[in-house]
Amino acid sequence: MVIVDTRFADLSSEKSDCIVIPLIDSKVTSSLQIRLNQALGAPIKLAMDASFFSGKDGEILTIPTFGKIEAGMIVLVGLGQKGKITSESIRKMAGEVAKKMAKVTHMTWFVDSIGKALPIERVIGAVVEGVVMGSYKFDQYKKSDREKILGPLHLSMSVPDKTMIVDASSAALIALRIAQAANTARDLANMPPNVLTPDRFVKMAKEFLKKTKAEIEVIDQKKAAHYGMGAFVGVAQGAIEPAYILILRHRPNKTDAPITLVGKGVTFDSGGISIKPGKGMSDMKADMSGGAAVLCAFHAAVDMNVPINLTAIIPLTENMPDGFAQRPGDIVTAMNGKTIEIINTDAEGRLILADALTYAVSEEKSKKIIDIATLTGACSVAIGDLAAGVLGNNQALINELIAVGETTGEILWQLPLFDGYLEYLKSDVADIANASEAGKAGTCTGAKFLEQFVGETPWAHLDIASGMRGSGKGYQPKGMSGAGTRLLIEWIMKQPSK
Ligand code: BES
Ligand code: MN
Ligand code: ZN
Repeated sequence: MVIVDTRFADLSSEKSDCIVIPLIDSKVTSSLQIRLNQALGAPIKLAMDASFFSGKDGEILTIPTFGKIEAGMIVLVGLGQKGKITSESIRKMAGEVAKKMAKVTHMTWFVDSIGKALPIERVIGAVVEGVVMGSYKFDQYKKSDREKILGPLHLSMSVPDKTMIVDASSAALIALRIAQAANTARDLANMPPNVLTPDRFVKMAKEFLKKTKAEIEVIDQKKAAHYGMGAFVGVAQGAIEPAYILILRHRPNKTDAPITLVGKGVTFDSGGISIKPGKGMSDMKADMSGGAAVLCAFHAAVDMNVPINLTAIIPLTENMPDGFAQRPGDIVTAMNGKTIEIINTDAEGRLILADALTYAVSEEKSKKIIDIATLTGACSVAIGDLAAGVLGNNQALINELIAVGETTGEILWQLPLFDGYLEYLKSDVADIANASEAGKAGTCTGAKFLEQFVGETPWAHLDIASGMRGSGKGYQPKGMSGAGTRLLIEWIMKQPSK
């Protein structure tokens, strides 16, 4: 846990384990440098020169204060050249500092605006997100739980002027809420699949939302069959764990059609009868990362009381190879009446999403739909793990998402949705096949399949299979990344209320 506050701190009396000072163009601002030299009784430049610290982008220097001031350490952090600093570069540095200072229980950052492009609120937002996400560890199952030993991390933002405190403090709290959402999504994705079953996911969602006015509806397998959700049921029937479609509604306005977020919630993907190879299969506990992003973004949006009607739909199931499991060759009928030939039972995400998307269109009457899913390994083959794929039927919506991703550092790369891809999904015996035998353009055919279930509704699809795991660098941990969570929240916050 991280507690955040905003203050006007005095360098010599600030009671904190460490004071973090970001350097721009390799320099401490001159007014701060004078105060530092006075407080320490020696020129800070001496310490910088003695340790060959040039203050360039990515460099961190820790200087002990030997009791000259209350804080035990001064930490200088090189942010790079003024014109090149972005929210994302600050976020990354803050993440590195948080990891390096893992034993610190109170950290105070001296923040200020950086040119016109980065007003102090954005700098604070990036620092808070970077520290909160960078200090994340999935250690619930480890004996050495940081929280148990050290307690929460206290993070203070020190602003250069008292009049800034109100705005700065609200920026810090919003960033904290957003970063917590991403960390919770990471928790869900990191949780072992014997613990985070569909049932447990539903229970956790109820627990998260119990103090809010959000409406929660749970469709079980029987009811799903009743709705005609044959594509979802076909995947679910191979698992002993009961499957659900979780529907969450936030309705601040009486009449407006909702914006709907749909997240893939496969709590474990063995591949089913088309079973996956053993290597790396344990990663498939995170095949509900899209669902986690949707739940956590929805929760944050409700907490922040966004003025728009919002629905979240998360189809939750395992994909298992039991005696009741669906077979390659099976034909199922989706909720919109289309028949689907199962070519590969490992292409299960699109099947459960198909019925969730139909539900979003026909039952929720959504005005826009965004789905997010760890849909295809092909996405990493195509673009590596530096970006997530985005595809859809509405260029304006895609452009909005790409623009938001640039600010949150969750880069999206658009892939095509050519009509010709439908040819790849031709079935001799049903309306459509769930996968192509040739296996070309896997991410595009996956999205093309989904497109068949959204009708005319403006829709965008985010394939986060590529960014599911964190890089271990900056504010990204080694385990699951929480990809897409901040992107969805920031996009929702930008939506006009009418
Ligand atoms: N969950 C996987 C995709 C995946 C793979 C996500 C690796 C993250 C990391 C998905 O259900 C799947 O198995 N997709 C198949 C589709 C194919 C059978 C058409 C794939 O990617 O091979
Ligand atoms: Mn699969
Ligand atoms: Zn899957």
